[in-house]
This record gives sequence, C-alpha cells and structure tokens, in this order.
Amino acid sequence: MSPLRITRTLPEDATGAALRADVRTGLTATPKSLPPKWFYDARGSELFERITELPEYYPTRAEREILLTRSGEIAEASGARTLVELGSGSSEKTRHLIDALTALEAYVPVDVSESALTQAGQALVAERPGLDVHALIADFTAPLALPETPGPRLVAFLGGTVGNLLPAERAAFLASVRALLAPGDGLLLGTDLVKDEATLVRAYDDAAGVTAAFDKNVLAVVDRELGADFDPDAFDHVAVWDAEREWIEMRLRSRTAQTVKVPALDLAVEFAAGEELRTEISAKFRREGVASELASAGLELTHWWTDSEGRFALSLSTVR
Ligand code: AVJ
Repeated sequence: MSPLRITRTLPEDATGAALRADVRTGLTATPKSLPPKWFYDARGSELFERITELPEYYPTRAEREILLTRSGEIAEASGARTLVELGSGSSEKTRHLIDALTALEAYVPVDVSESALTQAGQALVAERPGLDVHALIADFTAPLALPETPGPRLVAFLGGTVGNLLPAERAAFLASVRALLAPGDGLLLGTDLVKDEATLVRAYDDAAGVTAAFDKNVLAVVDRELGADFDPDAFDHVAVWDAEREWIEMRLRSRTAQTVKVPALDLAVEFAAGEELRTEISAKFRREGVASELASAGLELTHWWTDSEGRFALSLSTVR
C-alpha cells in the first residue's frame, strides 16, 4: 500500500461555480467586495510567496521563528499521532513541526491545490518513510470528513489565514473545527497580533508594490475565468487599518467612472470615480479575544506562544 493517498472531496467544477456565485454576489452588493480566496491562482500564489519575503511583511518570519523555537513544546503538549493541516500549501513551514512530532503516524494536509498537495506529499513520504500521508483536496471552509487515523489529532491552521474570515464566518469555522475533534485532540492556530497602525499598513502596502500587484491579481483571475474586462491599471491598491474592528482592509479604488463587463455572468458593473472594492480583511488579534472566540466554539486555550517581538502568536487549544 502506498503511504501517499490523495482524496478529492471537491467536485471538479466546484471552483468555477463558487467563483461565479462569489463574483455575482460581491460585485452587485453595496459596498462591492470579492472574497480573498480568489487571489491564489498560480501568479497570485507566486506573488504571495514574494510578499512573505518583503522586509515590511513580518507575519511569515514571526510565525517561522515560533515554529523553529517552540516545535518541541508544541509536540510535547499535543502528543499528536495525527497532524491535520488546513490550507497546507507547500507544507514548508510545517516541516519543522512534523520533525518534532516524534509520535506522529499520519499527516493529513488539506488544500484546494492538488499540485501543491502532490508535491509536498511526495517529498514528505520520501523523507519520512513510515509516515502515512493522506492528502485531502478540499475547501476547509466547508464541512470536512477526515480519514480514520490514530488520535490524538492536532489540527493546525497557520499563517494567520483565520484573520481573512469575517467574525461570523470565523465563529462558524471554529465550531466546524471543534466538531472534528475528540477529547485529547487539539487546535494549533496562527494569529497575527494587534500592533501600531504604521507597521500594519506598511505590511499590506509595501514600497516595492508587490502587495498592490497581488491585490490587482484578483481582477486578472476574474478576467481570465469569467471573460471580464477589468483593467488592473484602472484601480489603485489601498490598505486601511480599521481601528474599531481591528482589521486591515485591502481595497481596489477605481481611478475613474467606468463600466466593467462580466460576460460569463451577463453582468455590467458600474464603478463611480473613487469607488472602492473590498478584496480582503486581515484581522489582528489579542490573546483575550482569541481565548474568548475559542471558548465560544467549545475550545479551551491552553498554550500561547509569540515571537520574540510579540508580533504573532500560535495558540494551542483543546476540547473542553
Ligand atoms: C495568507 C491570509 C495570512 O492576510 O496577511 C498578504 C494574505 N494579503 N498580504 C494575510 C495577504 C496581503 C495573508 N494570509
């Protein structure tokens, strides 16, 4: 039996149907918005990789520091025999944690990208013979069915991506994760932390313009997939800190009054000069807020690790 298995729970056309539904809903709403998950085609994923290397974008480095210095403690606290990683991508940053989890028997990476899963899975299986890798091609924001693997299970959701969900979506997501866990299982959650506005805004509006290109890439995705005629140069990238709701908002601001056609949806979308399209929220957290959101989902925060500058946190929580 091959130690690498790949299961698809996402219908082949689910992506196209979901994109059409999201674009119709978002572009006909007031104010206009598009969900951030559509940034990540091949070019968007590459731009995001470049973002993680920017001097202004600290979260990836801060989280890596925690994983490098605390994986032993995380492994000991969880005792996991199965690691489930939501939005695993290349699984690169998880490698250190996997190495530290000495009791690990199964690794279940979950991602919408089949190519990322196959590559990462093959590399891992080669490096750690005996580890059962069961990749799931799935959208982790929808209910998940996990393969039967030995407990305790540790579900990891890293990178601060939980911050891309609106508060109500976050509550539903955490409840759905809780539903996957049995007593003794845990959730390892990466959250970027509230800090001064200038640092936050710089992280989402870098000097080299990589984040601006990433933001505009969602327009290129809609153009390619739905035949739309968005001109990325007709929009400006904007990053704003919402101090009340404690999240960064990325927006695309229309430079002029313009009409954009979306033939696949038989839609014409009017933009006023200066009108903004919201493309992402990236919520920033405090320890008390994370603990209370986890508690509402039936999880108890047991460990909290930050990087040396206190910019980013990994929390471990267990079923209460
Ligand atoms: C990958 C979702 C964690 O919100 O910081 C980076 C995406 N957006 N720069 C984030 C992102 C703009 C990133 N996450």
